[in-house]
This record gives sequence, C-alpha cells and structure tokens, in this order.
Amino acid sequence: MTKYIIKGGRPLYGTVEISGAKNAAVAIIPAAMLVDGVCRIENIPQISDVTMLLNILRRLGARVRTVDRHTMDIDCSGVRTFKADFDIMTKIRASYYLIGALLGRFGKAKVAMPGGCNFGAVRPIDQHVKGFIAMGADVEVKNGLVSATARDGRLHGADIYLDVASVGATINIMLAAVFARGVTRIENVAREPHIVDVANFLNAMGADIRGAGTNVIKIRGVDRLNGGSYALIPDQIEAGTYMAAVAGAGGSLLIKNIIPKHMDCITGKLEEMGVHVEEGEDEMLVSRSGSLRRINLKTLPYPGFPTDMQPQMATVLCLARGTSVITEGVWDTRYKYVDELMKMGASITVDGRKAIIEGVGELTGANVKAWDLRAGAAMVIAGLCAQGTTEIEGVNYIERGYEDLVEKLRAVGADIESVEIPENDGAEIVKIG
Ligand code: EPZ
Repeated sequence: MTKYIIKGGRPLYGTVEISGAKNAAVAIIPAAMLVDGVCRIENIPQISDVTMLLNILRRLGARVRTVDRHTMDIDCSGVRTFKADFDIMTKIRASYYLIGALLGRFGKAKVAMPGGCNFGAVRPIDQHVKGFIAMGADVEVKNGLVSATARDGRLHGADIYLDVASVGATINIMLAAVFARGVTRIENVAREPHIVDVANFLNAMGADIRGAGTNVIKIRGVDRLNGGSYALIPDQIEAGTYMAAVAGAGGSLLIKNIIPKHMDCITGKLEEMGVHVEEGEDEMLVSRSGSLRRINLKTLPYPGFPTDMQPQMATVLCLARGTSVITEGVWDTRYKYVDELMKMGASITVDGRKAIIEGVGELTGANVKAWDLRAGAAMVIAGLCAQGTTEIEGVNYIERGYEDLVEKLRAVGADIESVEIPENDGAEIVKIG
C-alpha cells in the first residue's frame, strides 16, 4: 500500500505547472469513439483515471499510441462492438460517457454501471436516461448494466430540459446527439469549462455544436466525424487546489498554465479570506503571509464556486479566525473528510449540507485516510499546514486526479514523500518519491 508522509508547517515558495483538465480528459477520450480516424489529443494529464479509460478503449478495439507523456493518438475506427460490460468499467464514474458515445455511433450500447467517488446515495443517471429516451432510445438498467437501443436504428433530434444542471448528463446527451437525425436542444445544461472543452473537441472533429458554456446547447446531427488534433484546457480544480495549499501553508506560488477566467470563483473567495492573487495572462501569483479571515461559501454549478474545491477550502478555513459556514449545493453529502480533519484538531460541525467551521490556532499531524479524490487533496493540504507529521492512506484516490502531486509539491519546498508499506506488517518502509 502506498502512503504519503508529510512533515508540515513549511510555507510554499516556487512555481507549479498545471496539467490538462481531468474532467475534460475523461470525457474527450470516450468521445474519440465517435471519430472515424485518428484523434491526436494533447495536454492529457498522467493520472490513473485516464490510464484506465485508455485501457477500456483498447479493450473495445481502439488503437491507442503514445506520442509523448501528454499526447496520445487514438483511433477508434476499427471498433466493432457496442458492449462495454466488463468489470473495469465500474471503477470510474466517467465510464458512463461510453453509453452516449456507443449509442451515438452504433445506435445501441450495453455498458456497465459506473463507479466513482461516493457522495451519499448512489450517483443517479436519470437525467442521462431522460435524454436518450427523448432522442428515441429504449433504455433498460438491470444486472448492473445500462442497455440503450435506438428504436429505428439511429437517434433523432429532440428538445430536452434537464431537471438538474448535470455535468455528466450534459456531456453524455451531447455525445449521443452528434449523429442524431435533426437538431437536439438541451436546456438547463451545466456550463463547466470541461463542457465547453468537449464541445470544442467534437467541433474540431467535424461536429456542429453551439452554445456550450451557456445554459442552452444546440447540436445539429452530422453523418461522420473525421480525425484531427485537439489540446485539452488546463485543470481548474488542480490549480485551485494549489491555490488553497499556499493559502493554508503560507508562502507564494506562481501557478502557471491556467485560464484565469476559469478561476474567478475560487480567486474571489480566497481574496475574501485575505489571500493575495495577482493575475497574469496564463498564470497567477498566489501569496499569503498574514492571518486568514473567515468566510461563508456555497458550492454551485459553474460559474458558482465548484463543489470539487469544497474539501480543500474547508481545510484552509480551519485556520481562519472566526466561524465559517460551507453549504454543499451540488451533492447530498460530501463531508466524509471532516472526521479525518477532526483527528488533526479541527473543529467542524456537519449538519446535512452545511459544515460550520470554528477556526483553530493550528492543526496537528495525524494518521488520516483519503476517502475520495478531493477529500484526499484536502488531507494533503491539512498535512502541509499541520505542525508535525501526517501520514495519508488511500493515495490511490488522489492519484486518480492529480498528476505528479508529490513531485510538484516537493519542488516548492514541501516535505512530502510517497512510501510503499508492505501489506503484511509494515515493518520496513521503502521510499519511492
Ligand atoms: C462531475 O460528476 C464530476 N466528475 C465531479 O467531479 C463533480 O463533482 C460533478 O461533475 C459536479 O461538478 C466528472 O466530471 C468525471 P453531476 P457528475 O451529474 O457528472 C445530480 C471530481 O472530484 N444528478 O453534475 O457525476 C447528482 O446527484 C469529481 O473530479 C441527478 O440527479 O456530476 C448531483 O447531485 C467528483 N441525476 C448533481 O446532479 C443525474 O442523472 C450533480 O451531478 C445526474 C446527476
């Protein structure tokens, strides 16, 4: 088992390069299934969710060639199956994009129900299904499989109104609609940067999609998508995580390769807390030396404050003077990480979707667990801020979404290492990073 060991209390100074956006990559890679030719995708982050999705595409018969560490050539023209019902599919949430992609391409799809981080009850896909049915598909969910079939062999355009501005449903319906006969209008769609990235990728391959980034997306069906090349946008949440890290630990980080516009909601809240942010064209200088001020925060779909930054901000607010209130506006519950922070001396009360955070003078190192991807990022930030040593278990979750996290943090002065603990007795520790 791999653990991170952090000796905290050190400010961060230096430069961090942001990688390609995870939530764009995990949608655009399955979207390549719609393309009859080679897609050259650049700025792909080296993270385990991407590795897993590329292996799923290979399993389906796609040719995937590594051009360099962040560039892949993907050719799905040889894929003949519409079935992606093997168990690896259940390991990540984004595998469900294959439903829209296979249904769009073959007029049918049989895909294993997705997995992914657990935020309360199961993560529903009713809005995805609603869209497929509106476009003329019969959909059945049983035995852990989603089976969808276009009644007359090919989907038709439809007007779809989403009950929830769901990122996944917006993207999945867009994928299914690319070859549908006629025009599909989706209203009340999600507007996250990665939604726009997926639409831009599909248009670069020959699709006809307008309105991504607004709350109405219009897709005019085309007959085929040719090959082409596309570079992913930088990761808004990775960048926000490093901004939160320096806000908590203190110091000054130059965060490079970002789109400042995407960071507005995060920048605004950190400045409210007393963090200094200087914006450049594609970089930000983020510094904190004085004390942190308490704030109230509500997570909302973009352009609101992102839910995927909630655990990280809660951790920093543990060190702010006064009482802060966080309201989780997207997921039923996303506070599993609070118990871990309490082991480090935090004072947080969770009441349904609200977390009331009493600022404390300091956090102290402890042995903690990463319960999901962003909770894991919060544990890393807590370890960086804490006095003493923090050991983090469950780093496989963290490595699903953060490329070279240990290396990037060590390069700016953090005392963090990744160690391999043998499963048996954990007697000898093997340092690996
Ligand atoms: C995506 O999940 C992200 N994952 C999540 O990020 C992120 O938290 C979420 O969007 C919100 O921004 C990926 O992109 C792979 P949703 P997704 O559909 O698409 C409800 C991370 O840390 N809903 O926008 O699954 C749902 O229950 C991950 O990178 C329905 O009711 O999220 C939730 O309350 C964690 N019916 C809300 O909508 C549906 O059919 C938002 O879900 C679909 C969703």
